[in-house]
Amino acid sequence: MVSIKRMEPEDHPALLRLWNRFEETTTTGADGPEGFAGFLGRNEGLCYCAVDGEDLIGSVMAGDDGRRGYVYHLAVDERYQGRGVGRMLMEEVEKSLRSRGVEKAHLFIYGDNPAIDFYRRLGWHLRGDIEIMSKVLIGSEYMGTRLDEGGADRE
Ligand SMILES: CC(C)(COP(=O)(O)OP(=O)(O)OC[C@H]1O[C@@H](n2cnc3c(N)ncnc32)[C@H](O)[C@@H]1OP(=O)(O)O)[C@@H](O)C(=O)NCCC(=O)NCCS
Repeated sequence: MVSIKRMEPEDHPALLRLWNRFEETTTTGADGPEGFAGFLGRNEGLCYCAVDGEDLIGSVMAGDDGRRGYVYHLAVDERYQGRGVGRMLMEEVEKSLRSRGVEKAHLFIYGDNPAIDFYRRLGWHLRGDIEIMSKVLIGSEYMGTRLDEGGADRE
């Protein structure tokens, strides 16, 4: 049976395995062990895993910067997709953000990701009025991608 649990630093290796199965959940320097543990510490109670027994089968991470919430790394193992696990993860994270007083949340998504329709079903809407501008502040290398070269357009 699938259940939702708080994400912990020890989940890192299983999460990387999950994220690396999808092109859509890109990993960057921020997903290294230190960046990951730091993010969990700063955003306690905002990051969740879906588990089936010992198996980690889904994830979502959110950050609260004191103004808006940001959702990252939503993923569900292909074998468990279409069974409401993504919805459960998003409902948990939205509830947690709301309980911290966060009025609005955003997420970044590639324009061709079919998950846009998933989010729409959950009440999210695609913005047509905002473009994202990015700048690499610290070049890093992680999982074979240099952020200050080809990786500049990764999240
Ligand atoms: C997006 C993702 C997390 C959805 O997970 P899931 O567990 O299959 O989703 P659920 O079963 O909870 O679906 C919830 C609802 O969305 C709908 N839905 C799910 N995927 C959909 C899709 N691709 N297109 C349209 N609707 C979709 C479901 O039919 C369901 O509708 P209902 O509850 O009204 O019946 C999963 O497809 C995934 O891991 N994708 C790859 C990673 C990814 O792209 N992540 C997003 C990065 S921004």
